[in-house]
Amino acid sequence: MKIKLWIACALGLSLPVWAGESVGAEALPVIPAPMTCSVDSGYFYFTPSTTIGVECESQLQMVSTFVDRLGRTAGFLPAIEVGAPEPDVRLTTVPSMPPEAYRLEVSAGRMTIKASGDAGFFYALQTLRQLLPPAIEGVEPVARNLCRVPAMTIDDAPRFGYRGLMIDVSRYFMPKKDLLQIIEASSMLKINKLHLHLVDDNGWRIEIKKYPRLTQVGAWRVKRDELFPNRRNQERGEEATEGGYYTQDDIREIVRYAAERQIEVIPEIEMPAHTNSSLAAYPQLACPVEDRFIGVLPGIGGKNSEIVYCAGNDSVFSFLEDVIDEIVELFPSKYIHLGGDEASKVNWARCPLCQARMKAEHIDHIEELQSYFMTRMCDYVRSKGKEVMGWDELTNSTLPEGAIIYGWQGLGKAALKAAEQGHRFVMTPARVLYLIRYQGPQWFEPFTYFGNNTLKDVYQYEPVQQDWKPAYESLLMGVQASMWTEFCNSPADVEYLLFPRLLALADVAWTQKGTKDWPGFLARLDRVLPHLEALGVTCARSMYNIDHRVTPEKKRLRVDLSCIRPDVEIRYTCDGTEPVATSPLYEKPFTVDASTCVRAATFAQGVQMGKTLTLDMQWNLATGKREIANNGSAGVLTNGVRGSLRHTDSEWVGWYDQDATFVIDLGKKTPVSEVTLGCITNSGMAVHKPAVIRLSVSNDKKNYRPVGEIRYSREEIFENRMAIEDARFDNLGVKARYLKFEVVNPGLCPAGDVREGQKVWMYFDEVMVQ
Ligand code: ACM
Ligand code: ZN
Repeated sequence: MKIKLWIACALGLSLPVWAGESVGAEALPVIPAPMTCSVDSGYFYFTPSTTIGVECESQLQMVSTFVDRLGRTAGFLPAIEVGAPEPDVRLTTVPSMPPEAYRLEVSAGRMTIKASGDAGFFYALQTLRQLLPPAIEGVEPVARNLCRVPAMTIDDAPRFGYRGLMIDVSRYFMPKKDLLQIIEASSMLKINKLHLHLVDDNGWRIEIKKYPRLTQVGAWRVKRDELFPNRRNQERGEEATEGGYYTQDDIREIVRYAAERQIEVIPEIEMPAHTNSSLAAYPQLACPVEDRFIGVLPGIGGKNSEIVYCAGNDSVFSFLEDVIDEIVELFPSKYIHLGGDEASKVNWARCPLCQARMKAEHIDHIEELQSYFMTRMCDYVRSKGKEVMGWDELTNSTLPEGAIIYGWQGLGKAALKAAEQGHRFVMTPARVLYLIRYQGPQWFEPFTYFGNNTLKDVYQYEPVQQDWKPAYESLLMGVQASMWTEFCNSPADVEYLLFPRLLALADVAWTQKGTKDWPGFLARLDRVLPHLEALGVTCARSMYNIDHRVTPEKKRLRVDLSCIRPDVEIRYTCDGTEPVATSPLYEKPFTVDASTCVRAATFAQGVQMGKTLTLDMQWNLATGKREIANNGSAGVLTNGVRGSLRHTDSEWVGWYDQDATFVIDLGKKTPVSEVTLGCITNSGMAVHKPAVIRLSVSNDKKNYRPVGEIRYSREEIFENRMAIEDARFDNLGVKARYLKFEVVNPGLCPAGDVREGQKVWMYFDEVMVQ
């Protein structure tokens, strides 16, 4: 019999589940999607008289945590009994099943859960948990008759053994209770590895008994109110008041809490770079050529990020070995991550100890000195019975034996160099799985770095590329979302960036290759997110926001609107009024030919789902006209839309470490009195105004006549700030068809700048002509 079952959704939406049919990944509202599933008619009801039979104490603990939620919200506690003869729910160990697999057989009156061990049983319980009402996660009452799951059979097992989340607790020190909350939420998604980035330039976060200054000094930095990249370094004598650390008891608690949820905590102790925090505490471990004051960095650190452990000083290795000795005792994980990324060799090249080391060890190339460093520490870690992990920069020199590599650069490609040499690896490509990046249209998002990794980008990620050798796939341990926290100032900030993207990562990590279904994922997401919200987790709604593209087209502006959710309507107005559910439906791109304020938002069932997008297009003589630039850009400078303070919002045109030239074709000889060019400064990201802007005009596009020049002083260019500023040429009184801008890059950020020595970006938007 095939009957259509409708499971009532918390949002009032419904999702069809076909009884008696194998519905596989997509129909059951569970994330990650189970491997196979067939749903029958009827439900299994948890009631006060339900009995659950377990085989041992550890199963009893696990099931108790599960039923406690019912006790808290539905007001009854099913009885759990070791060795119960005729229970309604029975946990049965099947030793032949793979380690994390489980089988759920549910009928109206009985449930059997099969697995080979705790992991499988735990995952079966997470699947059941997601099928119960979201309110069981909280404390509010839940009606008893809703405490049910469909009759069904599920066979489930993960695609990858490594399903990871990295949290950077150095840039933002996450209080323990909030870290536990993230562990709880992650465990519901069958994430099984928590990579804790405990050490970086911005704070040392773990108590090491032998070196108390690591946390007395290294855990604290000066408070700066600017955004992370704009923060100036600590001065000698300045008090460091911001930070915190986990005591060893805290760490034990975190590890235990995670283990109860089948999550292995992998500690990362960075070396030889990203260590200004420990060097602030023990500056004698830096190369002796270093004479600057070393403080814990409040931001990116400029040149101070070049300060690293001395590779020629044996005390560095005995210090790190002592640290590892304590780490080994605290973390039962078989892995220790030793970092190894972004290590400047500037000091090593001029340090006599480092040079002596190279000579003594017959090392010809400075890059190989890092291999010496990492290999020496790797050997030590291995001598303790642990395996070493590291970032993909380890492939820049001879790889330490057995090192497991995390691919983050170039869509993870650098890790393939390790795979080529037979090393295992984990994929966490920055371009897709760094959750610090914007998760939606940037105008609506809190300020962060770089471009976008949307929920859809994460969901669509397939780590195994078509051009891979088969051996690579067998060396791939799995995938990891990496949560760098430069811009986070509260646990809610971190959660906002994690959720819902971690749900997409969970699906990528668990479900089998070739099962992707974006609308199906969203339908499941809508059912699972309320569980996280009921837990008190902050979840972003960026997936409902509208992306825009405005492009000049035949002297008009073409407006394209889109949303990554295909199941919402975009409604818009063109008169500046707030869009409502009855506003015109956006069905295809449209054009405008005069100043227009378009406002748009997404709606579902009459309810506004995302934030309102405002495109305030201001017409001038350049609007809609052709733009030709020496960086290949076309259209952004004349699309009537001004960029925001986020220079990566797609409304700015950028030139890196080069001069810019661009020409605006007004279409015909036109009287011009005033020309304005929008410039942006974001000193933390080395985005600056130019040194010179020259404007010239032409009617034949060959012979140009200079009509104006604007110069900025070094002080004006390199002010530490974020600002949009217009460069204006007025009283021009010319008649011309072509306007040419020749813009001179100001060169490297000067000494004392927050990005001292860095090459400069110049960004412009918009060209406005009167
Ligand atoms: C990294 O993003 N530096 C690992
Ligand atoms: Zn040195």
